[in-house]
Amino acid sequence: DLNHKVIAIDGPSASGKGTVASRVAAALGFHYLDSGALYRLTALYAQKQHIEWNDETGVTKLAQSLPIVFEGQTVWLDGEDVSEAIRTEAIGMGASAVAQLPQVREALLQRQRDFLTKQGLVGDGRDMGSVIFPNAALKVFLTASAQVRAERRAKQLGSPCEGVAFERILADIEARDEADRRRPVAPLVQLPDAELLDTSEMGIDEAVKKVLDWYGKK
Ligand code: CDP
Ligand code: CDP
Repeated sequence: DLNHKVIAIDGPSASGKGTVASRVAAALGFHYLDSGALYRLTALYAQKQHIEWNDETGVTKLAQSLPIVFEGQTVWLDGEDVSEAIRTEAIGMGASAVAQLPQVREALLQRQRDFLTKQGLVGDGRDMGSVIFPNAALKVFLTASAQVRAERRAKQLGSPCEGVAFERILADIEARDEADRRRPVAPLVQLPDAELLDTSEMGIDEAVKKVLDWYGKK
């Protein structure tokens, strides 16, 4: 049973999941699974193939045979480097749309579990602890206030933390979180057995240390 080597990190958009999860994975020598990337890749692939994001049959077919390769920080889709293309908020919204389709989630389920090997795994997303790895040794609900998360996203985009563009980023983040929390399948929830990590006033190093401490105590 490899579950003692699994850390599941879930939380809302731009809470720092990817940053913290990949640093924790590096510290432990575990693999890192960015599950959101799979939904983003599915949304981008559908867009390229002119399949509507709400076409469950069409999108599921694509999700079942995503031609993707992860190579370090680079993600390839059908031979094309899409590392940056999948990070736009438009594709984030598309990811959130295709993520509401039960058959699409089903199509991506085994693929996510296959990332777990003897080496161990840190996975981040929305349902790592609830659906994909319900027996994970450690579950973390990583969050921060919407204002702080929007500021972090704005900085990532090289955009100011005030004004119309910022209000738009904040509104987009809140709309996507709301959709992820309210959907019937695999909604974003803070599980009773998850540790709560609010990083509104916490730096990356401290957050990473906290997760490593919790894991060490398991
Ligand atoms: O994966 P997720 O969307 O949850 O967030 P991320 O892309 O890992 O983090 C969003 C941004 O917030 C990154 O630029 C991080 O460096 C930053 N961050 C931060 O400033 N303080 C933290 N405690 C965590 C992340
Ligand atoms: O980086 P950010 O936190 O904004 O998003 P992400 O983790 O890349 O996920 C993009 C979208 O995919 C989310 O808004 C969710 O709707 C969906 N997703 C999901 O449903 N389940 C997961 N395990 C991961 C992502």
